[in-house]
Amino acid sequence: MDHSREPEARWLTWDEAGEAMLDLRRRVFLGEMNWPEKRIHRDRDPEGLHLCAVSGGEIVAAISAYVYEPGAPELAALELAATDGPSVAIGMRVELPEYRGRLVTAQIGTSMLRQICEVLLPSRFFVYVHADSLLHLVDRYARRNFTYHAQVGSGPDTVVVMKVEGEEELEEFYLKHRDLTRKYAAEGGMPVPSLARFLAEHKREDLFAVSGLGAENHYLGQFRLDTEAPRLASQGRLILGEQRQRLTMTPFPPAPASLLDLGSGPGDYLAAVAGEPPFAGYRVRGIEPAPELLARARSAYPDVDIRPGTAYATGEPDSSQEVVTANFVFVHLRSPDLALLEIRRILRPGGLLYVVDVNDATLVGPEIIQRMMETYNRRYAGDRLLLNDLPARAEEFGFELVRRFSTALRDGADGPPVFGEDEIRLGKADAWSLLSFVRTQSGCEEIFDAAREHFFATPDGRISLSFETHVYRLRP
Ligand SMILES: C[S@@+](CC[C@H](N)C(=O)[O-])C[C@H]1O[C@@H](n2cnc3c(N)ncnc32)[C@H](O)[C@@H]1O
Repeated sequence: MDHSREPEARWLTWDEAGEAMLDLRRRVFLGEMNWPEKRIHRDRDPEGLHLCAVSGGEIVAAISAYVYEPGAPELAALELAATDGPSVAIGMRVELPEYRGRLVTAQIGTSMLRQICEVLLPSRFFVYVHADSLLHLVDRYARRNFTYHAQVGSGPDTVVVMKVEGEEELEEFYLKHRDLTRKYAAEGGMPVPSLARFLAEHKREDLFAVSGLGAENHYLGQFRLDTEAPRLASQGRLILGEQRQRLTMTPFPPAPASLLDLGSGPGDYLAAVAGEPPFAGYRVRGIEPAPELLARARSAYPDVDIRPGTAYATGEPDSSQEVVTANFVFVHLRSPDLALLEIRRILRPGGLLYVVDVNDATLVGPEIIQRMMETYNRRYAGDRLLLNDLPARAEEFGFELVRRFSTALRDGADGPPVFGEDEIRLGKADAWSLLSFVRTQSGCEEIFDAAREHFFATPDGRISLSFETHVYRLRP
């Protein structure tokens, strides 16, 4: 086999690759570790999730995950108590000797965990290791936040069970694996395809955590309506000043047409944008999951149709929209892939997805402000770096990027905002207020205060952060 090429990552079903995976397991577990044949089979292999690295047509590394519904008897046998949601076992990680310790094998494990967190939102991860041959793995799993749970079985069948469980622990686990996937990608790792797309293609939507994702970010939990709503309203006014030109440069379908706005918040921006010329004759509606924001939008704009819903479950019929917009929403999503899947479902072929969002990868500024944003981004379950990846992710779901604009927000104006080509200059207080949300993230208070002090004590023209407009067309 030709292994000279870089391997490619693929999610594979047991039907298509089970025999090849068993061959690899035999080669390594039987050939090198003298396991009995029965150990290389898992009862749930046929419905397992298998992420493989394939080179020259051969599987060179693989890792598997098995989803257990709450109350599954296998959990009780491992002394794992019932939880509300699914438990996911990770196992059968195997690779050819020449791939051990290489980026590809680290990458498939890490990426699998990250994507399972984003798409399935399990209540627990667990692993079990055979006490006779794999005890060294206990340390490795401990470094990945698994804690010792129990030792079960006897004789050669003794296994050590380790788990990650609890809201905070699972969040920490997710953020750690998200950081690692980014690090591996930056080191030149291979692209790993979307689990959400694979599951949708194989009619496994039952695994999607669409309702669990209801509590994914601070908008859906605790936030200060009295400060957040005015912040969003003034951000909306600023953005509209910049967006007018972008909107006229976008090939929106002619009226009559339907536009659905995801995450309309207090409604100010949607109400304003609905009156812009490209949308004359459009039926414009919005959805908003946060009850307080929804109530505020409905009372402030009774003529605008805004309903409860999320980017994962809009409640709209298939192929019913010509345009879907998402303003400052994507970076808050735990699972952009599930949102893309839902948007693909409700858009007509050829319809447009119009995304406006911030891209923290564009931040230029003093070291302390960079550090403040890094601290925030490491802790926030949304992803303010998403826009760099969005074109490739959207492409997997059949979206083609047709326009991309970038506008830098800079400090350095004396009074009201000054609109230039691809930039907006803001007064110092306005510029800082765009970052005021950072202080609401626990663990960021101290660095926020220090960064603010530094910012106001230094001359103007020091920070710049861009937001981007991406226009995608759903391929017919
Ligand atoms: C930064 S605000 C933007 C609001 C509005 N689009 C605007 O531009 O003023 C983010 C919005 O996304 C909403 N949101 C959060 N999670 C969401 C989800 N899963 N689906 C749809 N909207 C979501 C929040 O409730 C909030 O209204």
